[in-house]
Amino acid sequence: MLVHIKEIIPKAVKGNYAVPAFNTFNLETTLAIVRGAVAKKSPVIIQISEKTIKYAGLKPITHIMETIAKNEAVVVPVALHLDHGKSFHSVAECISAGFTSIHIDASELPYDENVILTKQATDYAHKNKCWAQGELGTILNKKSIAKKKIKDDFSKFMTNPSQAEKFVKKTKINTFAPSVGAMHGIFKGKEKINQTLLKEIKQKTKLPLVLHGASGVPDQDIKQAIKNGVAVINIDTRLRQVFTNTLRQTLMSKVHEIDPRDIFPASMDSVQKIVEEKIELFGSVNKC
Ligand code: G3H
Ligand code: ZN
Repeated sequence: MLVHIKEIIPKAVKGNYAVPAFNTFNLETTLAIVRGAVAKKSPVIIQISEKTIKYAGLKPITHIMETIAKNEAVVVPVALHLDHGKSFHSVAECISAGFTSIHIDASELPYDENVILTKQATDYAHKNKCWAQGELGTILNKKSIAKKKIKDDFSKFMTNPSQAEKFVKKTKINTFAPSVGAMHGIFKGKEKINQTLLKEIKQKTKLPLVLHGASGVPDQDIKQAIKNGVAVINIDTRLRQVFTNTLRQTLMSKVHEIDPRDIFPASMDSVQKIVEEKIELFGSVNKC
């Protein structure tokens, strides 16, 4: 069932678990996410990035998500969210399309400009009865690590708790995405959550925290992060990784198969399996 995100996140905060926020980019992934959530009776956030909007078109992908939420997830709450919206335009178009939550990611801008754009997007979201997520600090990825020539010390890219406190007061965002050691992508052995920092950010912001870049974060770090205030956990890379790897294997093992309907199901099953594992890890089983 399609619900407002405000029906999902406050319950997770109260219940000390985290809601999974899975990125989708097509029909097959969306079905797999929802089937996993239904199998585990877990609320779920389905989110798209600007790259997906460019790839699939906002209206087609929104209709896919909405229709699957309404018809496949009859009793499971599903909310639609824009992930890493970089501009006011992206935020506004997703709100018009019916999303109940947006992420305005102005974290690459200087602090004052981040505040201005985040506040502008948040005010607009609130006027339209939507929630807004803001971000401060740098959540690194493969490209930015190479560009900034970073070796091992990621600490200077993490969120400053006092600045975060001012940021949430000025912007009035509903949820906050800090940089606390996770990175976008999978970096085996390199992603370690700074739990002390996370706790301090939670204490100062008093908002539900969103953990970005969770695909490569060890399970024990995830569990501790939930105890320390994380209420939403984003998973993207891991789903695309299993979808594509399984697809590659299927194509290699069925070299003469030409019917996509006999090729995609294995990839969908692999995505669903990861979805169910993450739901177990985040503690959101049977929470609807
Ligand atoms: O916004 C999306 C996420 O932060 C996903 O991160 O690609 O490491 O799973 P990930
Ligand atoms: Zn992210």
